[in-house]
Amino acid sequence: MELQNDLLIRAAKGEKTERTPVWLMRQAGRILPEYRAVRNSLSGFIELVTTPELAAEVTIQPVDILGVDAAIIFSDILVIPEAMGLKYEMVEKKGPWFPETVNGYDDFAKLKKADVESDLGYVLEAIKITKKELNGRVPLIGFAGAPWTIFCYMIEGQGSKTFSKARRMLYNEPLLADQLLQLITDSTIEYLKAQIAAGADIVQVFDSWAGILPPDHYQKYSMKYITQICDAIDEVPVTVFAKGAYFARQEMRHLNCQTIGLDWNMDIQESRRLIGENKTLQGNLDPCTLYGSVADIETATRKMLDNFGPGRHIANLGHGVYPDTDPEKVKVFINTVKEYSAVMHSTND
Ligand code: CP3
Repeated sequence: MELQNDLLIRAAKGEKTERTPVWLMRQAGRILPEYRAVRNSLSGFIELVTTPELAAEVTIQPVDILGVDAAIIFSDILVIPEAMGLKYEMVEKKGPWFPETVNGYDDFAKLKKADVESDLGYVLEAIKITKKELNGRVPLIGFAGAPWTIFCYMIEGQGSKTFSKARRMLYNEPLLADQLLQLITDSTIEYLKAQIAAGADIVQVFDSWAGILPPDHYQKYSMKYITQICDAIDEVPVTVFAKGAYFARQEMRHLNCQTIGLDWNMDIQESRRLIGENKTLQGNLDPCTLYGSVADIETATRKMLDNFGPGRHIANLGHGVYPDTDPEKVKVFINTVKEYSAVMHSTND
């Protein structure tokens, strides 16, 4: 299926585009009343994730309603630990909760590599339905959590400010940590490859808890495994978003991926210098900008676009859009990117 709008894919590959593509991390769900209507008709988040027709419906909502240049499959990074043997629950207003966690070798021994077709077939089915319904309008983004971020949830069993239990294992049981990270990595590679086979046009790896590691641990326990993932995938472009990993930007230039995501703390020009010219950069407007006035959103978005320049940029926020953001303000961001970047690209020719 030919894509009618392939701006995201061309920008990822470093090809020329008529304007800068734009989408938002966590655009599916959260902010749209249309999403909540679907979700409220069900027992909860997990039923939605595991019902392919409905997952496809909410995946496409932001394309129709917000006008983004890509869809991201509605799922969660936590489907991987589940497929490896740790069931999760999504507790209303609190977030994920795992009744069982990994505390030592005994717990590790009970885990398995995810069997993608049988354990995660519902995601693959949702991708196939979404691709059919999108009918080539925009690309579909597949995704997974980075092994380090998944490891954090498997050890702690829930969100945490410090993830100090997970970090403690790196000091006390480094060999166990490596074995678990490797099992997550092997599961993730097969999972991403299956998403691509099902129709994902590009994949993103989310390392949401990158920023809590010291640089040497980040190399040893996160980049090492992200490197394996990037090296294993050559079917489609790969994006790596490591939130808070400002200290690893220089090493990221060596990753076998096309795009690096920046969070809003990272200076754009410094990031370009550290990462080099051979990668596309994605990001990085402060999500809280969208709480501001229309005029302030327009000004901040234009400033961001000026800082990135017209080439090798995919516009996005510096992290997921916050749930209490007004969708109308999101549209201001999207439309400003579309209009202003078109002018930037044409004057640059
Ligand atoms: O981007 C998208 O819109 C696609 C769907 C998507 C979800 N989660 C749906 C979701 C994606 C890409 C994710 C990724 C994810 N999940 C990450 C990495 C990105 C990031 O924000 O750092 C992480 C750390 C998780 C784990 C997770 N899932 C948490 C901590 C929570 C609870 C709080 C929250 O962020 O909403 C979830 C639940 C979740 N995942 C919701 C959605 C729409 C809200 C659940 C609901 O509808 O009640």
